[in-house]
Amino acid sequence: MSIKVAPSILAADYLNLERDVKLVEDAGAEYLHIDVMDGMFVPSISYGPGWVKALKPKTNMVLDVHLMVEQPERYIDAFVDAGADILGVHYEATQHLHRALQQINDHGIKSEVVINPATSVTVIEPILHMVDQVLVMTVNPGFGGQKFLPETLAKITELAELKAQNGYHYDIEIDGGANDETTKLAYEAGATVAVAGSYVYDKVDPAAKIERLKEVTK
Ligand code: DX5
Ligand code: ZN
Repeated sequence: MSIKVAPSILAADYLNLERDVKLVEDAGAEYLHIDVMDGMFVPSISYGPGWVKALKPKTNMVLDVHLMVEQPERYIDAFVDAGADILGVHYEATQHLHRALQQINDHGIKSEVVINPATSVTVIEPILHMVDQVLVMTVNPGFGGQKFLPETLAKITELAELKAQNGYHYDIEIDGGANDETTKLAYEAGATVAVAGSYVYDKVDPAAKIERLKEVTK
């Protein structure tokens, strides 16, 4: 099965967001990736639950919300109410990761743990049984358009092995620097979902880019 594609609206045209969302949905993207940045956990500030709420009735894609926020547990309820289908919290952003994931699971939506490039898989092993998705950051979070870090590939392999060994069900998602070459490498290592921002939206034909990502991961 081809990799699932999650275009990130961070690279879309905000004043034509409905058009840009429809474009990727029609092209076969399964998820819509929404990057929430608080200006503390990462330097940038992006958008909050109001954007998720506005997007919800406009698309049937899975809303994949990536919280780059300090103490994300403060905002879980608000993003669930807004219509998030998958909610991701960073290992590095909370002292109570287990509780934050429990909080997401209790709402009956999908939970995700995210690890930065400097964070090893070992530290999240105790919670892998309780997540629906693991997001391996393939760049340092905060900005679109950065270069894929190949040293993160080994973590994808490790997560795929742990999944097979233990019968876990999580998807393995990559985020940052995804293009046709890097997505192929990640797919071969075991990734099942690819976030793509600038690769999809910066060039002339987003639909062709999505098709290409599907093509190289057949
Ligand atoms: C980075 C964000 C990414 C970003 C990816 O902090 O989490 O989702 O939009 O952008 P590209 O695909 O351009 O690297
Ligand atoms: Zn992201």
